[in-house]
Amino acid sequence: MDNLVKKIKEKFELRGLPDTLVLSLLEDYINKNKIKDIHSEKSKKIVIKEVREELRKYTGQYASKSNIKNRKTLIINNNIEELLKNHSSTRERIEDYPLIRDVLKRINPKSILDLGCGINPIVIAEKGIKYHAYDINHNDLIVVEQFFKINNINGDIHHKDIREETTFPKVDLCIIFKVLDILGDRRIGISRDLLKNIDSRYFLISFATRTLTGKPMNSPYRRWFENILKTLKYKYEVKRTKQELFYLIKNDKL
Ligand SMILES: C[S@@+](CC[C@H](N)C(=O)[O-])C[C@H]1O[C@@H](n2cnc3c(N)ncnc32)[C@H](O)[C@@H]1O
Repeated sequence: MDNLVKKIKEKFELRGLPDTLVLSLLEDYINKNKIKDIHSEKSKKIVIKEVREELRKYTGQYASKSNIKNRKTLIINNNIEELLKNHSSTRERIEDYPLIRDVLKRINPKSILDLGCGINPIVIAEKGIKYHAYDINHNDLIVVEQFFKINNINGDIHHKDIREETTFPKVDLCIIFKVLDILGDRRIGISRDLLKNIDSRYFLISFATRTLTGKPMNSPYRRWFENILKTLKYKYEVKRTKQELFYLIKNDKL
């Protein structure tokens, strides 16, 4: 099994994923499809291909394009714009960052928790704000860590699967951009637990308004998510941009 995990992770975009996640999807696949002879070359080939496809649903399709060394050079040269273009989520959001900065100005957070952060922290993090960056993909976290170090930002990185985490640091603002939709079948329950358990004054949560092929979605508003907010009695406002829908949520209980 260890060899199979290694083989699956040979693809650059999957290298940063934890072995435990790869192993659990691999075991699921083998059990679900009742694969008996995992050692035959034919089955191995199919299993590797299928599990890679499954893993890409979690992270691969968004993974940054260039390698860590190239990205470190971009950080050292403070070439943030080029870095942002490296990751599909930040690239698509370049025009929207002024709106996000306006929201930050209003909230004036002293601490931020960014779940499924990708390389988003390199735009948002600044001195004076304690920044906690979580992602399942280690490749992006390394870049974020280098950015924190070079810019003297008080931040830490956490290579974690947020579906399995139960404790998070207390913060003023929790950011979750374009992550909740890709948390798998349990996404509604997990989203509810995150909103309930995270001790944060505000949440800024976004969803894509376009499909992966770039077509506008027919109904981009996430009613399942709004229902959770109503059940938890959280007040919220919605802002829509060309590519994204942002929910700014206030936790009045705090
Ligand atoms: C669409 S990208 C968004 C990245 C970033 N939030 C942004 O909008 O710029 C989704 C991110 O969520 C991360 N991710 C997916 N599933 C995760 C999980 N279960 N736990 C932690 N991070 C996860 C991926 O690795 C990827 O970086």
